[in-house]
Amino acid sequence: MVNIKRIAILGTGSMGGAILAGLLKSGFDPNQISVTTKSAESADRLTDELGVLSFAMENGEDANQMAVAGANVVLVGVKPAQVVEVLADVADTLNDNALVISVAAGVTTASMEAVLPEDVGVVRAMPNTPALIGRGMTGIAAGERATEWAIDTTKELFETVGKVLVVEESRIDALTTISGSGPAYVFYLIEKLTEAAKHQGFSDSEAALLVNETFLGAAELVASSPKSPAELRKQVTSPNGTTERAIARIEQTDLTQMFVEATDAALARARDLAAGK
Ligand SMILES: NC(=O)c1ccc[n+]([C@@H]2O[C@H](COP(=O)([O-])OP(=O)(O)OC[C@H]3O[C@@H](n4cnc5c(N)ncnc54)[C@H](OP(=O)(O)O)[C@@H]3O)[C@@H](O)[C@H]2O)c1
Repeated sequence: MVNIKRIAILGTGSMGGAILAGLLKSGFDPNQISVTTKSAESADRLTDELGVLSFAMENGEDANQMAVAGANVVLVGVKPAQVVEVLADVADTLNDNALVISVAAGVTTASMEAVLPEDVGVVRAMPNTPALIGRGMTGIAAGERATEWAIDTTKELFETVGKVLVVEESRIDALTTISGSGPAYVFYLIEKLTEAAKHQGFSDSEAALLVNETFLGAAELVASSPKSPAELRKQVTSPNGTTERAIARIEQTDLTQMFVEATDAALARARDLAAGK
């Protein structure tokens, strides 16, 4: 990590913890990481298991301030409703020119910048749950005050848990409907094909093996092959064969339209949430 000298992670649950794991896996020195949690139990576990300095709100209201002292990068991993309050609380303790990165869904960079000193830049990131296994897809968007350095540093951080795409902040909700929520769409397809496998007479464990390995293998083939998904599909589909029959039946449902409507619905919900509905 060339850009990150010392990092504080405020709120180290599922997502904060995934990024912490990615940082450590990439060889970042645990002595240069401070983390915070609400409960003393979570904080103790993080120190015992990972050797990072931890502070719990339960042990002192100044936990977040203690953690950000000396950090040039601060990652905010608390729930969206707490983000602005936590940032306002640490604003006076932040290093000069610190970078604040938030993973909170729906919290704009402008609302974070409003409670931070002028010299502090903010970047928003939207990772997804495969970040937990280092296969995340993260969208990042810079706020008004974020520099090139801030974007490069955020990329560097999230590349420890997968791939990164930089977008304008106005596109971050749209990105959330694809890669943020996307794992749920894939899990849903896996569930449905597993039900069909059971209908074809396979036991629960056989159906899970067949379907899970098929999704994994197909996804890896798409990622590693120069061919497009459509070309790879044609390779499996011999004329007048069995796959052709199955695809013809699937095509009777307009899947493109269904995904367009599903992602439009997710986008409308993101806008409602931003408006406090
Ligand atoms: N999970 C996802 O798939 C995902 C994807 C994209 C973005 N995000 C975003 O990530 C953020 C966190 O979500 P999550 O699923 O990781 O939640 P989570 O597992 O509940 O983690 C929240 C963490 O914040 C700690 N905490 C609570 N209040 C605090 C405070 N005042 N100061 C410091 N730490 C505090 C909690 O402590 P304890 O451990 O003691 O409870 C916990 O470690 C959210 O803003 C969400 O929008 C999540």
